[in-house]
Amino acid sequence: MRMTVIGTGYLGATHAACMAELGHEVLGVDVDEAKIASLRGGEVPFYEPGLPEVLTRNLEDGRLGFSTDYAEAAGFANVHFLGVGTPQRKGSFAADLTYVFQVITDLVPLLRGDHVIFGKSTVPVGTAVQLQELADFLAGPGTSVEIAWNPEFLREGFAVKDTITPDRIVVGVRGESRAEEIAREIYATAIATDTPFLVTDLATAELVKVSANAFLATKISFINAVSEICESTGADVVALADAIGHDDRIGRKFLGAGLGFGGGCLPKDIRAFMARAGELGADQALTFLREVDSINMRRRERVVQLSKEVSGGSLLGKRVTVLGAAFKPNSDDVRDSPALSVAGSLSLQGADVSVYDPEAMDNARRIFPTLNYAESTVQALADADLVVLATEWKEFRELDPVRVAELVSTPIIIDGRNVLDVRLWKAAGWTIKALGRNL
Ligand code: UGA
Repeated sequence: MRMTVIGTGYLGATHAACMAELGHEVLGVDVDEAKIASLRGGEVPFYEPGLPEVLTRNLEDGRLGFSTDYAEAAGFANVHFLGVGTPQRKGSFAADLTYVFQVITDLVPLLRGDHVIFGKSTVPVGTAVQLQELADFLAGPGTSVEIAWNPEFLREGFAVKDTITPDRIVVGVRGESRAEEIAREIYATAIATDTPFLVTDLATAELVKVSANAFLATKISFINAVSEICESTGADVVALADAIGHDDRIGRKFLGAGLGFGGGCLPKDIRAFMARAGELGADQALTFLREVDSINMRRRERVVQLSKEVSGGSLLGKRVTVLGAAFKPNSDDVRDSPALSVAGSLSLQGADVSVYDPEAMDNARRIFPTLNYAESTVQALADADLVVLATEWKEFRELDPVRVAELVSTPIIIDGRNVLDVRLWKAAGWTIKALGRNL
């Protein structure tokens, strides 16, 4: 099938390349000329394992192209995916829908014939209906434009796998719709391997996405709240998570206690969900998400407080190494990153902070230029009074405590992600502290 993907950020660039990989002919469209030039040249403007190979292969095979021209997009295909960003609005919890509405405003007047636009961006419930009204108003005579909603569940770091072999496909459609049939053709490969294909109304599809992210955020904050109780009682949150995780109704995934969630999705999605509930007069339904958000933010403060405690009550002049800047491993994304937030707070409390991340250095430098950035893990660790493991990259999980002890000034480490082998680190002479564990 021929299709365009409008918006070539994390979501759109991945979707465009993976749809081409599935054999479709795809045009990726974005207003950002630098991004398009980079993608055209076979370069992914962010770190996503496996994506550069998929991009280059499909550019070479001629199934994938990129453009900044909406007129070209309008003539290229009758099926379009909309994957632009919906960041948190400044000064509010609500989502900023400017880019989503702009795409419809710019694209629809250029369309001729019958078109389907599948929204993929995470939007507040009710947005698709508003976009449909706008599209109906802007469509030329004899042109029909159907808006459908096809939420995306990919995780950064596993984006290619999650797009090519998703765990479910959800398509929200209005009453009389051509979108379901088109979606079945687009996702034929996944459907052939029995991937659940769920057709819903528009509101349900929009809500599925935010509900999934709200559930994941709640699960993380649940274990982090229990972690606070473990800290007050001497219990061990990791052993506890293992034990409750054996119950399949609970499951061990997303019970990783530690510095909590960040990134461009979970934090802003729970806030936008609360804001939308308020607009709908149902704010009580989601007030618990405010607590989910607070528990999450408290973990960052706790690491800073713990850092102070192990540094003799003051961070002034202490050399602190923060391992990690990305919001999670296998990503260079630093949006709302717990690691960078901790690094920033430690620095504001007078510590001399040295940060290292395998992939996120440029992005971190851009948003937090005042921190010291080391060239390597070894350089970051040199003469440290305290080490904070903030993002659980494999390189950090596999550090040799004996070797690291030779680099630092004082062997004290805070495992902000509960990933280190405590016995090994202790045996190498380290004082090790972690969240929710009495070590
Ligand atoms: C999340 C969802 O997992 C995807 O399904 C969704 O498609 C995506 O948002 C989106 O809306 O686009 P992502 O932001 O890539 O994906 O990251 P996650 O893997 O969900 O991790 C989120 C945060 O939670 C990270 O900061 C991670 O360190 C933290 N986390 C995760 C924990 O603190 N503990 C855990 O046990 C798991």
